[in-house]
Amino acid sequence: MNSHAPAERAGRSGRPTRSRVLRQLRRAAVLGAAAVLASTGLVATASTAEAASTLGAAAAEKGRYFGAAVAANHLGESTYVSTLNREFTSVTAENEMKWDALEPNRNSFQFATADRIASHARGQGMKLRGHTLVWHSQLPGWVQNLQTNDLRSAMNNHINQVMAHYRGQIDSWDVVNEAFEDGSSGARRNSVFQQRLGNGWIEEAFRTARQADPNAKLCYNDYNTDNWSHAKTQAVYAMVRDFTSRGVPIDCVGFQAHFNSGNPVPSNYHTTLQNFADLGVDVQITELDIAGSGQQQAEQYRGITQACLAVSRCNGITVWGIPDHYSWRSGDTPLLFDRNYNKKAAYTAVLEALGGSNSGGDDGGGDDGGGDDGGNGATCTATYTQTDRWGDRFNGQVTVTATGGPISGWSVPVTVASPQRISSTWNGSPTWDGSGNVMTMRPNGNGTLSAGSSTSFGFTVMANGNWSQPRIGACSVS
Ligand code: G3I
Repeated sequence: MNSHAPAERAGRSGRPTRSRVLRQLRRAAVLGAAAVLASTGLVATASTAEAASTLGAAAAEKGRYFGAAVAANHLGESTYVSTLNREFTSVTAENEMKWDALEPNRNSFQFATADRIASHARGQGMKLRGHTLVWHSQLPGWVQNLQTNDLRSAMNNHINQVMAHYRGQIDSWDVVNEAFEDGSSGARRNSVFQQRLGNGWIEEAFRTARQADPNAKLCYNDYNTDNWSHAKTQAVYAMVRDFTSRGVPIDCVGFQAHFNSGNPVPSNYHTTLQNFADLGVDVQITELDIAGSGQQQAEQYRGITQACLAVSRCNGITVWGIPDHYSWRSGDTPLLFDRNYNKKAAYTAVLEALGGSNSGGDDGGGDDGGGDDGGNGATCTATYTQTDRWGDRFNGQVTVTATGGPISGWSVPVTVASPQRISSTWNGSPTWDGSGNVMTMRPNGNGTLSAGSSTSFGFTVMANGNWSQPRIGACSVS
């Protein structure tokens, strides 16, 4: 293993032109990148050119995550997993971290299924959103029957036990979910918590949560809070303003963003996000799905994405599922992938809004005829896998594959997010940019590859508290 001090290394540009990269990427994609990605099931990031080609990579360039709700029972399906790993940088358990799943009987916790999701996210370097600690729905029967003191201690015990189990793994917890009534009343929902514990229960849940995991962001999460002029939006806003003014610990507000014709994307969506952010909390779009199809659906997705990007405290977007047929309302076809995992127009709209480009996509294959690729049609792809993780660092491996013809050299940029640092590398010869965040890896005796064959290089990243996945740039033939 070679040890390197990135900041001390002189950078070597050697950067291919944008048009060359795009042509190479397109060709690499049609010549087999998709097959490589799908077959590994391990790939976290595909090659990207200057314009990122996946939702996660494009969002990362804007300092955001792009997440999906995941169901544990689909984690054995290869296309589901390869799409998840390729496109998304954050995961929310769709049902597995809810009270009925984790504590079906009092003080008897069952973490195994939720742990499968957590471990998948960890293995891929994805963020994990915790959903949800206290919610009137999917609440086991035994909780409904408790009287005041018992309910208070059960609620606090649930928060304490669950947050302790996942301490250090969760980026943001939905501490309280859907505690306000729909309609024009602006009232608190008449849940068992409201009935037995009175108005103070939400505040108590947040105070308990802060103690249980001081490093997780604590969110209030709700739906139909998108339109600034709606009573429910105003009621939640008043609560958050009250909390922030009195020092009740709250870090973020989740906007579920389930849209359909009865609840369309409002024209003042950006205003809503910005007004909440101006209270000093982060905002997150937590369960996005939009009923519809084609360009009409796509434009609504584009608008939501633009609204998040326009608010600096909007941390990221989570869509509530991956392919349409696994949605909780599959008849509305509300997601970004169709049942065959083809990218929909909505996908392209989101990717474009994030500044990415669908260059590597779903154009059905075939050579695009482009190319200053050395004349033999050869290009290369680079795919990333996290191989190990310890308390302070993790190892990444990048597999470089020659596509379309033999190659005699390659280069792959790897970008880590400050304060991460690459502390060592192997099977490659790195150069560094001035910041020390961007390493360009070139061969160290492993540059010659026959068509279809692969080599790999590896590196260790000191996390320094940031566990985000390195960004792997486009592989260039040299
Ligand atoms: O797993 C059982 C299965 O064993 C059983 O045969 C089947 C028959 O009913 O039910 C299955 O459980 C279902 C579960 O989803 C898993 O598919 C539940 O009935 C069903 O109620 C549950 O629906 C979930 C819903 O929350 C419950 O309120 C949806 O998947 C989930 O997407 C949805 O998510 C919520 C968010 O948590 C909060 N915001 C709204 C959002 C959409 O409703």
